[in-house]
Amino acid sequence: MLEIEKVSVFYGEFQAIFDVSLRVSEGETVITVGPNGAGKSTLLKTISGLLQPRSGSITFLGNRLDRMPAHEIVELGIAQVPEGGRLFPQLSVYENLRVGSFLPRARGEATATLKEIYGLFPILDERKRQYADTLSGGERQMLAIARSLMSRPKLILLDEPSSGLAPRVVTRVFEFVHQIKSQGYAILMVEQNVRKGLQLSDRAYLIESGRIVKEGPRKTFLEDDYIKKAYIGL
Ligand SMILES: Nc1ncnc2c1ncn2[C@@H]1O[C@H](COP(=O)(O)OP(=O)(O)O)[C@@H](O)[C@H]1O
Ligand SMILES: [Mg+2]
Repeated sequence: MLEIEKVSVFYGEFQAIFDVSLRVSEGETVITVGPNGAGKSTLLKTISGLLQPRSGSITFLGNRLDRMPAHEIVELGIAQVPEGGRLFPQLSVYENLRVGSFLPRARGEATATLKEIYGLFPILDERKRQYADTLSGGERQMLAIARSLMSRPKLILLDEPSSGLAPRVVTRVFEFVHQIKSQGYAILMVEQNVRKGLQLSDRAYLIESGRIVKEGPRKTFLEDDYIKKAYIGL
């Protein structure tokens, strides 16, 4: 459903992404792993239209995204969860979720979507009247991900959902992502936590210094000597 072909992205004179090609199929969970500064966030921001590639093409369900404004990309069904979630701390859990259904297409269905989300994730129902900033770090990340579902997306972009969380909490957040995956959503996640991220992915890419240096199914990644040595620490 998403095809990225030889995309290069610059910040001024500085090239952050070099000829990156990547695809995500319907219902697939794809992870892009790589160290800090490799270009993971840049890649997601380019897909969601916050940055424009200097060359290459991005196609989503037959539509060219690479010259499209960000709000039109959301309307096509791509939701991005930025690193750290960017919640409104002084709004309740319920209000944060409602903010996610701003699109005309999603607004009419907001009550039904909300009910679905509460059904799937009862913790958010229990906490719906609490301010977002009273939630734990893990719960905040879950709320940010749940909020992205309110726009009724087809593809969800997740920027480092494990960022800043304790290992035990990361496991819970990834279980949450797994539940969303089970609902049939396509997910493209970028992560530094290679071991845990690979566990819930179908396919993976490794990005280093703005270049894709490896790609393959999860199993190949988990068994790869270089990945193990450099990123899993076995
Ligand atoms: N707004 C920006 N202006 C200039 N350089 C940037 C900007 N954002 C990121 N970079 C640079 O682009 C590279 C990739 O950054 P980023 O995509 O944030 O990496 P990652 O998400 O993998 O940690 C890094 O060298 C970073 O310093
Ligand atoms: Mg990043």
